[in-house]
Formats: sequence, structure tokens, C-alpha cells
Amino acid sequence: NLPKKVTIIEVGPRDGLQNEKSFIPTDIKKQFINSLKKAGIKEMEITSFVSPKWVPQMSDAAEIVADCLDNQTLNIVLAPNQKGVDRVLESDCKAVAVFVGVSNTFNKKNINKTTTESLDELKPIIQHLKKQQFFVRACISTSFYCPYEGKVNESEVIKLCSEFVAAGVDELSVADTIGMATPDESYSLFSKLKAAFPNILLTAHFHDTRKLALTNIFAALQAGIDRFDTSAGGLGGCPFAPGATGNVATEDVVYLLERMGIETGIDLEKLLLAVDIISPLLSRKIESTYYRLQHV
Ligand code: HMG
Ligand code: MG
Repeated sequence: NLPKKVTIIEVGPRDGLQNEKSFIPTDIKKQFINSLKKAGIKEMEITSFVSPKWVPQMSDAAEIVADCLDNQTLNIVLAPNQKGVDRVLESDCKAVAVFVGVSNTFNKKNINKTTTESLDELKPIIQHLKKQQFFVRACISTSFYCPYEGKVNESEVIKLCSEFVAAGVDELSVADTIGMATPDESYSLFSKLKAAFPNILLTAHFHDTRKLALTNIFAALQAGIDRFDTSAGGLGGCPFAPGATGNVATEDVVYLLERMGIETGIDLEKLLLAVDIISPLLSRKIESTYYRLQHV
């Protein structure tokens, strides 16, 4: 009972680049974003309005947004707090991702608040954005494991998700931040989320730290999930989650899905051209399987 079609939400320009130490020129980021759109990406996190002191790589968010909005793509920006949302409201962007960790320790390290403090701050923000016709996505970090607290209970994830659903979000992106989930855990959590929130866009966000992301995606597909966050080239990682490496690579996910006859709307060859734009600027080599096989 697998879906016939899957939506890929490209997070390379945001999650993919935020952990890169040396600043990537804004023009290259824009070219990367545009080439991803040419490859068929229709939903994308293009940047984040976070503190430039905490994440210097994202300090050019306003410039990115000024040049990269279009009508064909859902261009999403991250915002951690009121100040971030104020910066979004100064732009023409109409889609925001808020983010919070299920685990308190992770949330403290990532946004300097407990989970409850973040939730209290974000609820009125979400309600305000919905009144202004924004698309709002909530990214739920450490939904399986926390680098500081270990295993996270499914019931806590579901409880936190229901708070965001009650606040009015359009989408939940449920994340395995440090790539530790196994397929049985993926199936179990996503089946429960699907049953609990039948009317919400439900997305899985897997980091590929232990090379389990593709199997976790297959398990999530079986649980009825048809939306996945992925990153071109497998770039990515949260600077405040030790050991977190890249997101699952868009090209590896597209290859898997298309081989199974599941439509993604993404052109693999054009996707590799996007990776070619960004790869010379990165501190690391591209490790995705599909990219490496095309460059032997
Ligand atoms: P703080 O230091 O507690 O903030 O940081 P503050 O309110 O005390 O403000 C301190 C200074 O930052 C002030 O400036 C503020 O104006 C400024 P100063 O007076 O010192 O000059 N400031 C801001 N500037 C620009 N934009 C803002 C902003 N907010 C405050 N939005 C804060 C709190 C939330 C700002 C900080 O912790 C932060 O920026 N954290 C972001 C961390 C981050 O980007 N993490 C990665 C994204 S999440 C992720 O990757 C996980 C995900 O992929 C899912 C998964 O895999 O799990 C989504
Ligand atoms: Mg992430």
C-alpha cells in the first residue's frame, strides 16, 4: 500500500549549509536554490532567520529571501522566536518553519529555552502567522533520540505535536536529529502520528548518521508517510547536536522512490548539477551514493 507519489521538501540550502564553517557566498547559495528548483523541487527551506551570532552561515537570510521567492515553489524560512518572525514579516516570504526539540536539554542548547518556554513563545506566533495566511510548518527535533538525554518516548512526541496542531500549524516535520532511529521505530512512531493527526501534512526528516535513513524512509512509507525532508548531496547537520551529520541525500531518496515506481517530479541529472554548484565551496566531500556513482 505504498503511495504513488511523494513530495520531497529540499532542506539543503538551510539544514545542509548551516553547519558549514566557512561562509558560502550569498550568490552561490542563490544559484544552488535556483538550480534545485530547475531540478523540480517544489517545496524548500531556503534559509533561516536565526541569530547570526549563533549561526553565522545564515546571516544573509534577508538577501536570500529578497531574490529567491517565486510562485512555483513553497519557499520556507526558519524562525526560532519573535525576533526571527519580525524579520520574516519585513520580507515577502509567506511560509515559516518554527522548530522545537522534544528533549529539554537539546532545546536549551539549540534555542536557549526549555521545550515548554519555546512552546509558550511559539503558540501566539503561529496563531498570528495563520491569521496573516502564512503556511506554517513545525519541525519537531529529537523525536527519536536526543544527543544529551537518549531515547525519547513516543508519547512525548505525540503530546508536543498535538500542541502545535492545536495552535494551527499546517505541517509537522518530525525529525530524527542525530540519525539513530531504526525502521521499526520509524514505522511505529509514524503510524501513531498518522492515526493521531489525519488532517495535517506529516513529513519525516531523517539524518543519515548511521546510514539508516533510507530504510527508515521505507518504513515510514509503509506507515503512510508521503512527504520527506531531504538535502541535495546529503549535506546537513545541526550545529547544536553533537555527532549529527547530513540529512539523507535527495538524490538517493529520489533514486530509491523512482526505482519503486513512486513519482517525485525530480530530475536526477539536474539535481546533480545543483550539487555540483555547491560542492566546491564545502569543507567536506559529497558522500551520497548516487552522486559518487556518477562521478567515478
Ligand atoms: P539568545 O542568545 O538566547 O537570544 O538566543 P536573545 O533573545 O537573548 O538575543 C540575543 C541577541 O540575538 C540579541 O542581539 C538579539 O537581538 C539577537 P544583541 O542585542 O546581542 O545584538 N537575536 C536575533 N537576531 C537575529 N535573528 C533572530 C534573533 N533572535 C535574537 N531570530 C536564539 C536565542 C533562538 C536567537 C538562538 O539560540 C538561535 O538563533 N538559535 C538557532 C539555532 C539554529 O539555527 N539551529 C539549527 C536549526 S534547527 C535544526 O537544524 C533542526 C531541524 O533540522 C530538525 C532536526 O534535524 O532535528 C529543523
Ligand atoms: Mg535537521
